[in-house]
Amino acid sequence: MLTEIRSHLPADFPPIHWFDSIGSTNTHAKQLAHEGAPQGTVVLADTQTGGRGRMGRSFLSPAGSGIYLSMILRPDCVAGELMHLTCAAGVAVCDAVEEVCGVRPGIKWINDLVLGEKKLGGILTELSVNNNGLADYAVVGIGINISHTPPAVKEMATCLWDAGIKADRASLIAAILTHLIRLPQTLLPCQEQIMAQYRTDCITLGKEICVIRNGSVRYGKALDVDLQGGLLVGYDDGTEEIVSSGEVSIRGMYGYV
Ligand code: BTN
Repeated sequence: MLTEIRSHLPADFPPIHWFDSIGSTNTHAKQLAHEGAPQGTVVLADTQTGGRGRMGRSFLSPAGSGIYLSMILRPDCVAGELMHLTCAAGVAVCDAVEEVCGVRPGIKWINDLVLGEKKLGGILTELSVNNNGLADYAVVGIGINISHTPPAVKEMATCLWDAGIKADRASLIAAILTHLIRLPQTLLPCQEQIMAQYRTDCITLGKEICVIRNGSVRYGKALDVDLQGGLLVGYDDGTEEIVSSGEVSIRGMYGYV
């Protein structure tokens, strides 16, 4: 698998650490980053026993049937300028999937990759900040269901094969890595273009939604996404708010939250 992936990448591409099985590629990448691993270092696994998602959720990662990877990025900026990193990673993955598969997934705010209204995968970004407020490193984790949808989540999730797309795993991994590694150079200079593309990809916009935070639920409509990735919500009571954390579910979209 590694040889096949490397055959699609330039010879000087940073180290790729392959595991048949690992707890979480993000957790291992954070450890490597802490030990000084260079920008672009990748952790890739055939299966994860403790794949993690946003908001403390787990990400089911069965063997041989998905992409589970994490890349270490070292953008040279203050951490506060990286609020849109998850969005930028989402656009990068959509670009890669479109290139290799000919189909562009949607993005459910903020980090879910969606195909045919079901979850195809997700993105988990984790940031380490130094004492001066500078970004020390970011780990961007990507999970995509390729050839198998775990039965436990069949109601709300899908995979490329179920959508009729027989994607080659190695080619798709290489395309994702190629797009992700450019992010430190493009994140700030191209923020407006990236976020314009994110708004186009974001299936949440214009939908009736509910915002679930700290045990409370509020109903409204998703109006816009700002340059930092915050979701502007117009609530049914007439108030507006930019939401940057918590769960946003699209009302009426199967059992999907
Ligand atoms: C989500 O659904 O909220 C995000 C899922 C992200 C899953 C990927 S799989 C590779 C990397 N390692 C992890 O533990 N999580 C991410």
